[in-house]
Amino acid sequence: MTEPAAPWWKSAVLYQIYPRSFADTGGDGVGDLEGVRRHLDHLEWLGIDAIWLSPFYPSPMADFGYDVSDYCGVDPLFGTLEEFDRLLAEAHARNIRVILDWVPNHTSDQHPWFVESRSGRDSPKRNWYVWRDPAPDGGPPNNWIRAWGGTPAWTFDPPSDQWYLHLFLPEQPDLNWREPAVVEAMHDVLRFWLDRGVDGFRMDVIHLIGKAADLPDDPPELLSNPHSSLNDDPSTHALIRGLRDLLDSYDGDRMMVGEVFLLDAALVARYYDAGQGLHLAFNFPPLFTRWRADKWHKRIEEVRDTIEPNGWPTWVLSNHDVQRHRTRYGGSESRARAAAVLLLTLRGTPFLYAGEELGLEDAVIPQDRQVDPGGRDGCRAPIPWTSGRDHGWASTEPWLPWPPEADLRNVEAQRSDERSILHLYRRLLGARRRSGALQLGQQILLDAPGGALCWSRTLDDDQRLVLVNFTDATVELPAAPPPDGWQRWIVQVASDGQGEGQPYSGTLGPDQALLLRPG
Ligand code: GLC
Repeated sequence: MTEPAAPWWKSAVLYQIYPRSFADTGGDGVGDLEGVRRHLDHLEWLGIDAIWLSPFYPSPMADFGYDVSDYCGVDPLFGTLEEFDRLLAEAHARNIRVILDWVPNHTSDQHPWFVESRSGRDSPKRNWYVWRDPAPDGGPPNNWIRAWGGTPAWTFDPPSDQWYLHLFLPEQPDLNWREPAVVEAMHDVLRFWLDRGVDGFRMDVIHLIGKAADLPDDPPELLSNPHSSLNDDPSTHALIRGLRDLLDSYDGDRMMVGEVFLLDAALVARYYDAGQGLHLAFNFPPLFTRWRADKWHKRIEEVRDTIEPNGWPTWVLSNHDVQRHRTRYGGSESRARAAAVLLLTLRGTPFLYAGEELGLEDAVIPQDRQVDPGGRDGCRAPIPWTSGRDHGWASTEPWLPWPPEADLRNVEAQRSDERSILHLYRRLLGARRRSGALQLGQQILLDAPGGALCWSRTLDDDQRLVLVNFTDATVELPAAPPPDGWQRWIVQVASDGQGEGQPYSGTLGPDQALLLRPG
């Protein structure tokens, strides 16, 4: 019996685009959908399979689009719905799938639903948000802390003498998913985009949508954490099953990947819900892991033992909420190159964050240019496309400063240099595409000397080996585990381009990572 073909999202590599920062064609210093469309050729050349677009919906931009005031439109800053449709069609014509960022936990305080809800206690939409009477002392209804502020997750509304809940900014009131009309309205939003042909969704902080009915206090010892990193209410799973049923009722393998911001793989694993929950879940502990072989060994085992029994893993090193991994790992390009080999050869679906393929580091943001309430501007610096002064943007002064060395770390300069990190990403993506073992194969961690990791990927008779040196010293891996030693293995892709097509020498240089295939 032949196995049913794996769904596309298992073998795919996804590429996150933060539209504000990708490419500006309008000249206002902010990237736009047309900027994404014009660079589809480049993405096809690079070899990714799908893009995830961070929010482009109408928004007052208190949280740069994660405060949505209309789920079924495009903010004029980013373009029009027609431009979105064109982008989608042209991506599909290149076999690039498109998933959207859907923000279900909260709306903008300017969303008509909240404006209505806030209009008074007897508003028909009062119950669409989480309103509560003051505590006996007149203060917030419980002790939950919001993200980024260290302050209460509640704002008082004097006219109605009640508080509303917001796990993020006061401008981002939480929806009440216990209200069936909210569930229905949000399902309609998904249908709106699914009917237009999108391939799925990245679901923002999906672990937050269900909340305990009585909203109990967080334990005092956890109060240094915002409630958004603690909330894990069982009612969320039934809500996610509803979303899964909706997606599965469409043809074409529509996919949802959930942002489950709980820093514990065992908790994340539950959101796969035995095939009835998320198709994929972000698992962030590896992202917060230092660049050390022993630490990564533990993470890889943890994913194998906790995530894999429940669902297909994901791997991500950078996104729009954290310092870029090159910066986190100390800034060296050779280490960023080794990290690319790791990210693109582990078992699971990798997510790239636009710009990592150029080896970008976080921008240094002078105080008078800081705009994000969460302090995340550095990783959101604009993508440089060319070496010229405007770096291919239609504006000379983008909304945030350029990242370091933009005259070298840009698409134009790196495409013309086969030794660039951009070409390394392309070779890795090509190697993945041509190897069932790398896309879907089993993975076994093999013995390696301290400071290095080594694993095999196998599918039927297709086999690959990956070696990563996490240190800046040379590591000898001469008489290593494969039954017949290393001699017959060929370097397919090297993080530094050295020795590709040659037999493996038995030595890993400083920060070197290799992908080997049988000779
Ligand atoms: C998620 C997003 C982040 C946003 C937050 C609130 O964590 O990735 O950018 O600020 O949710 O929507």
